[in-house]
Amino acid sequence: MKIVVIGTGYVGLPHAAVLSEYGHQVYAYDIDETRIAAYQSGIAENIERYVNEPGLAEVVAENLNRYLFFTTDITEVAEDSDIFFLCINTPPNLDGSTDMTYYLDAIRHLAKLLARRKKNQRVVLVNKSTVPIGTARLLESVMNEHGVENFGVASNPEFLAQGNAVEGSRRPDRIVIGADTAEDMQILRRVYSQFVNHVRIRYLETTPETAEAIKYVSNTLLLTYISFWNGVGARLAEAMPNIRMEDLKIGVTADARISTWGSYVSNGAGGSCFGKDIQSLIYQLNHAGRPTDLLRAVYGINEYQKRYLIDRAVHEAHFKFNQKTVALLGLSFKKRTNDMRDSAALQVVESLLSRGVHAIRAYDPLAMDEARRNWFNPEKNYLFERITYHDSAVEAIRGSDALYISTDWEEFRGLARTIETTVRPPYLVMDGRRMLPDYEALVAAGYDYLPVGGLLLRGKRDESFEPGDNGHAMVEPVGALQ
Ligand code: UDX
Repeated sequence: MKIVVIGTGYVGLPHAAVLSEYGHQVYAYDIDETRIAAYQSGIAENIERYVNEPGLAEVVAENLNRYLFFTTDITEVAEDSDIFFLCINTPPNLDGSTDMTYYLDAIRHLAKLLARRKKNQRVVLVNKSTVPIGTARLLESVMNEHGVENFGVASNPEFLAQGNAVEGSRRPDRIVIGADTAEDMQILRRVYSQFVNHVRIRYLETTPETAEAIKYVSNTLLLTYISFWNGVGARLAEAMPNIRMEDLKIGVTADARISTWGSYVSNGAGGSCFGKDIQSLIYQLNHAGRPTDLLRAVYGINEYQKRYLIDRAVHEAHFKFNQKTVALLGLSFKKRTNDMRDSAALQVVESLLSRGVHAIRAYDPLAMDEARRNWFNPEKNYLFERITYHDSAVEAIRGSDALYISTDWEEFRGLARTIETTVRPPYLVMDGRRMLPDYEALVAAGYDYLPVGGLLLRGKRDESFEPGDNGHAMVEPVGALQ
């Protein structure tokens, strides 16, 4: 089939690349010329500067100029293409609604091209990136306004998680197609022919509005799982003695009806989707005059979770941040990405600075350039001058009074020994990702340990205490948050 993918970001580029693997002729279009030139070079480094996904650059290089073409001009290909996938970014407005400016610009441009089509060949316009419920209908009305003929609109939402785009596209859990006519369904079946009647992959055909709603309900349900575990399971283990968080998870999720995904308690879920989608859904339901209590609670719990450990450090551990130096490990919203959108680290830094810390010593294996350039630029806020960047976890920890672990990078797992040999107690370790399975040795050596999903453990210190002298230290659990 002849397919055009409009927008070549995190949704569009992997989609275009994987479709080209199936032998479709795919034209990936973007208005950004430097981006298109980077993809067209076929060089991994250039491609990854825009979309960094495992295996993606290889798929692009293999299919480049055979099945996959990059362009900033679709005037010609618009003439006889079968399908247009719309993968345009729809950022959030301040009130939670969706900024449709780029989307509307793109579809108006497309409408003008399609209105000029001479052949009366059917064309299907498919929304792929997350757009508010009703956008397929909006797309239809814009095409009608421009006099486009013989077209159909559809919704085919993207469910990929970052870092898994290529594998996820090759082996999705489900393909959801929302379209109005059997003819359009048939055209989309040809795009996804290998997934229709697949034994494992659910191929669902429904209305465009249902498909749009499936995306929002999926993402908000996933965030609900996380907020449930952070807001209920973790809270119990943080307040009551002798509750083992890992066993609690195993015991509960052994029930086949209960998801294990989301039970990893953390200092809040970040990323480009969850926060944006739940706010948008709240906005859409409010707009429809419906109550949104559950969604607002889920969102609120997740946002508070990002500052919660710092609050616990103040109220429970009585730690005074004023003039202290804090090491911060992890800046990105999850491991294996440099993406910091909605990352917990943003709120941790804000909270630390507002409490008057003297310095923040940061380390992240991938996101430090991103942090310096786009998030903690001292030109935007002079307080960001208090953040220094270091080449390793141990360098960041050196000379600090407390440590905060914000991202679940594997290299942070089991840092207890490194902490012991680098800094001396009194010292507070705030573990937002439960990365220190060996925390008992640390506590025994006199360090205070404050994990998400667990009690504050005080490393008891007495006068004869020497760092590393475990014989003098005792573990003393401290009670609930007051
Ligand atoms: C998410 C959805 O998974 C995906 O289906 C959707 O299309 C886009 O949003 P992504 O943002 O890439 O994907 O990240 P994901 O891996 O889901 O993690 C989101 C956040 O939740 C991260 O900060 C992660 O660390 C956190 N998380 C995840 C938890 O805190 N606990 C968990 O159990 C799982």
